[in-house]
Amino acid sequence: MQTIKDVQLQGKTVLLRVDFNVPMNKDGTIIDDGKIRAALPTIEYIMGQGAKLIAMSHLGRPKGQPDPKYSLKPVANHLQSLVNNKVIMANDSVGPAVKEAVNQLQPGEILLLENLRFHAEEEKNDAQYARQLADLADVYVNDAFGTAHRAHASTAGVADYLPAYAGFLMEQEVKMLRQVLDHPEPPRMAILGGAKVADKLGLIGNLINKMDILLIGGGMANTFLKAQGYEIGKSICETDLVDKASQLLQTAQERGVSILLPNDVVVTDAISADAVAETYPVDRVPADKMIVDAGPETIARFTEAIEKAHTIVWNGPLGVYEHEQFARGTWEVARAIARSQAVSVIGGGDSAAAVQNLGLEKDITHISTGGGATLEFLEGRILPGVAVVEGAKVLH
Ligand code: 3PG
Repeated sequence: MQTIKDVQLQGKTVLLRVDFNVPMNKDGTIIDDGKIRAALPTIEYIMGQGAKLIAMSHLGRPKGQPDPKYSLKPVANHLQSLVNNKVIMANDSVGPAVKEAVNQLQPGEILLLENLRFHAEEEKNDAQYARQLADLADVYVNDAFGTAHRAHASTAGVADYLPAYAGFLMEQEVKMLRQVLDHPEPPRMAILGGAKVADKLGLIGNLINKMDILLIGGGMANTFLKAQGYEIGKSICETDLVDKASQLLQTAQERGVSILLPNDVVVTDAISADAVAETYPVDRVPADKMIVDAGPETIARFTEAIEKAHTIVWNGPLGVYEHEQFARGTWEVARAIARSQAVSVIGGGDSAAAVQNLGLEKDITHISTGGGATLEFLEGRILPGVAVVEGAKVLH
């Protein structure tokens, strides 16, 4: 992978793709600025080299036309509070006014382009739009790991017209995800949660070849419990995937991979802040209740296994953790990973949020900024935004 350390940046104009797609309140207050902070080492390095910087990102899904709701202006203001350099907000991503703003830009200043998705051409990976972006600069740097699974003009097409390098975040994300996938120290464990098996089929399929233990919780565990013949009451279950879940259990057994599923569960009548939580063994889930978390015995089994692992990948919460009474499985798994000596990589927004809410970030080897991108990487797919900085052919 070519990184910004491999190129002379002094006096150059750098076009930097960042993922500033951050959650915001209606008034433009940024709820979580983690993705902006994660790009700061790259931004600071580029500025330190005496380059001019043009940063570009998408925000939300504005459907290919300008929409003030999705303007990056609040992000520009926030970035200004985090860096010592002057941050200038452009009124668009391409066009004469942007060209002029680039001409006026001084070394040490940052120009943030307006939301790339105000142009439908961005998501279409339109060659002319990519060319217009490329024409603004001398060098392209991609630090937007969170958007690397999209083959868009700013993540892929632009590299047809400029030399492409990875920023430090991109480099670190790829290095850590590769380490756990390709060179993991055994015992290797993946912890998979979240609501749906359908979203994780590719992930389970890939990880079954790479891990020693798959620990499955959250809503997706219900489909596996059903495949094992348990009655799961009103719990969410993907009935069309029960056979697939049986096959995966069979494949795991043939390959000597242990799959750990809940043996007791927390159930409730309805998901709400004042809903009552009760615990049952998996073979006695009442017909009128739904499973919403792992039970205490399951948590004890899971955390014991976690503490013995030397490599851990975690994606997806173990229960409906938004409500405290259903959050114990997720919290305890997060704490056990933090306690373990394993190389630990957390992917996916919810699992990362759980770790951050508990203040355990320092005890985790790597918390990925990617949601969909991390999932696709762990599925074993080639991400277009990674391919361009590795000199591979761009997937159009
Ligand atoms: C994300 O938040 O996962 C990335 O910024 C990608 O956003 P998208 O799913 O709208 O392409």
